[in-house]
Amino acid sequence: MIQDVQKIAQALIQSRYPVALTGAGISTESGVPDFRGQAGLWQDEDAVELLSLTTLYGDPQRFYSKGLSLLQVFRGKSPNAAHRALARLEELGLIRCVITQNIDGLHQAAGSQNVLEIHGNLRTSSCVICHAVFPFEFVEKAASEGQIPPKCPKCGGTVRPDVVFFGDDMTSDFGRAVEECSRADFMLIIGSSLQVAPAAYLPGMVPRIAIINLDETPYDESAEVVIHAKAGTVLPELVRVVEQDPSLKRRQR
Ligand code: APR
Repeated sequence: MIQDVQKIAQALIQSRYPVALTGAGISTESGVPDFRGQAGLWQDEDAVELLSLTTLYGDPQRFYSKGLSLLQVFRGKSPNAAHRALARLEELGLIRCVITQNIDGLHQAAGSQNVLEIHGNLRTSSCVICHAVFPFEFVEKAASEGQIPPKCPKCGGTVRPDVVFFGDDMTSDFGRAVEECSRADFMLIIGSSLQVAPAAYLPGMVPRIAIINLDETPYDESAEVVIHAKAGTVLPELVRVVEQDPSLKRRQR
């Protein structure tokens, strides 16, 4: 594995504009389940149906009771060594932007500055009519008081969590992610099965990619380096290697 880590280190140091794309796998070592891994959330068919537009709009009683409590699994966790290592790579100028499919906010909690949340977040909720933004807790409080679906105090529209479900439009961060990928000359992909569009199209926009993922992905063949190991093990090793590399010092001058 060390040779592969050294290859990624060299690619990051040599690249003009390296970016990262992350998925649920970078957060599993923080206690957040992924979706399609060995113990993924989507093993439970109920979960797939619960966190869907069909339930959100078609059965709000069920969504705002069981769906909201299921979303708690993504909240209140702490960043792990992988998140911290990625934040350090950004600090060293070796990652310009973290494009994440995750809604857990752990990249920002670890210190990453330039984070694009293309599948939304669990900090806010918004009115579907006037787009007024409220804290996520607004929908929890309204639902606990029996107001289902939660109503916008400004226009009376429905207020929903700012999470992207299948069938939803992508966030405005996705447009910025496309711009970042069009500038990028290298992408480090961490903890994603790369099976969900349009996020899964992003690696195809970047000339050079490397993958750190426990399971195989559809992009393994086209990646320069593939490491099938835990992000929490590989990324701190990657930081150790780049920090020792003399060419990094030259680059930072
Ligand atoms: N280190 C490295 N890889 C890991 C780790 C780990 N500690 N734990 C899990 N993985 C890998 C798994 O092998 C799996 O291939 O992370 C990948 C996670 O893939 P998914 O569960 O499909 O998650 P993701 O790719 O983020 O899913 C994309 O699908 O359901 C939607 O909106 C949801 O954002 C999500 C999107």
